[in-house]
Amino acid sequence: MSTTEAEVDSLRAEALEALARAGNEAEQEAWRANWLGRKDGRLTLRLRGLKDAAPEQRAALGKSLNQLKTTLEYELEARRESARADALAALSADAALDVSLPGRPQSLGRLHPVTQTMNDCIDAFAEMGFRVFEGPEVEWSRYNFDAVRIPDDHPARDMWDTIWIDTLIEGERQLLLRTHTSPNQIRVMEQSEPPVRVIVPGKCYRQEATDATHEWMLTQIEGLAVDEGVRMSDLKGTLYAFAQEPAAPPEEWIPPKWGARAGEGGARMAALKAPLSPFARRIFGGDRQIIFHHSYFPFVEPGVEMAIDCFICRADGSDCRTCQGTGWIEILGAGMVHPEIIENAGYDSSKYTGFAFGVGIERVAMLRWGIEDIRHFYQNDLRFLRQF
Ligand code: PHE
Repeated sequence: MSTTEAEVDSLRAEALEALARAGNEAEQEAWRANWLGRKDGRLTLRLRGLKDAAPEQRAALGKSLNQLKTTLEYELEARRESARADALAALSADAALDVSLPGRPQSLGRLHPVTQTMNDCIDAFAEMGFRVFEGPEVEWSRYNFDAVRIPDDHPARDMWDTIWIDTLIEGERQLLLRTHTSPNQIRVMEQSEPPVRVIVPGKCYRQEATDATHEWMLTQIEGLAVDEGVRMSDLKGTLYAFAQEPAAPPEEWIPPKWGARAGEGGARMAALKAPLSPFARRIFGGDRQIIFHHSYFPFVEPGVEMAIDCFICRADGSDCRTCQGTGWIEILGAGMVHPEIIENAGYDSSKYTGFAFGVGIERVAMLRWGIEDIRHFYQNDLRFLRQF
């Protein structure tokens, strides 16, 4: 099909007018097929027909048609571009940002109440010269049980129904989630020479039927002091200083130096009977009652439990859920380190004696804040957690 210059002008006018009416993507695409389609687009056909034009017109006409093609392609792209911009503008008008609205505040996190309590307990013991040591949560059964005098067939193993790791080593289950922090008594003594004065904070795991004071995961702080002449009264003095508001320190009192030997700079744990610092005051204050009961742990002799008066029932004789009607809430086990353990560590038990304790941090937190059920700590209810 041959074309004249006049026809090129009217084709241009017609095409541009149609393009102006192609308001959306589909219409623009139909317009493209109609004019520029490769098989039978109207302009394509004209270009193809050039070969039939009179030879003297062919060059000029070819130029005009090709210019028209460039124009149409350019205009189509421009039309599409402006349609996209319109669509975007419509979209953001819908979801308009109102800069006058108040922002959503980012709420600041805080430390979990158990972590807060743990930190305060660590501070209190650190003030008394205890160094912090950490041990593994996945522990060897020989550290968790055997090394602390709980042999395989010992009934005491029942007290810590254990969460074992499946992996067998030499055909036996030897790894477990530690049931207490006491294996670290051994780990510490293996690595150091007396005098020893350390605390070991950390999580422990037991298969518990949970109730108001028992959870299957618990946090403990183990304490261990081994030196010449350490006595039961030193243990009690340390624990009173930790738990209760102290009397003013005696004037001649010298702060014990970590690592000092007996007789040098007041290293005797007996010095701790004179309660120490405002840090210790943090834990319970002076108006709480403390009681020591005799108790049994295979790794101490003698063994005790320390309990604080129940803040809920104040021992009113009711069947209080939190203290099981006893009036007391046990917060720690303690005692004098068994001489066999001192010997196993390679220390001379005729020269060195020591005390150990294991504080249940959740129990301490319950007593501090009057929380009646230990299970609140790990239910992740923000209404609870935000109160601390
Ligand atoms: N390990 C004991 C427990 O988990 C506590 C304890 C520690 C008792 C140290 C005595 C000495 O119950």
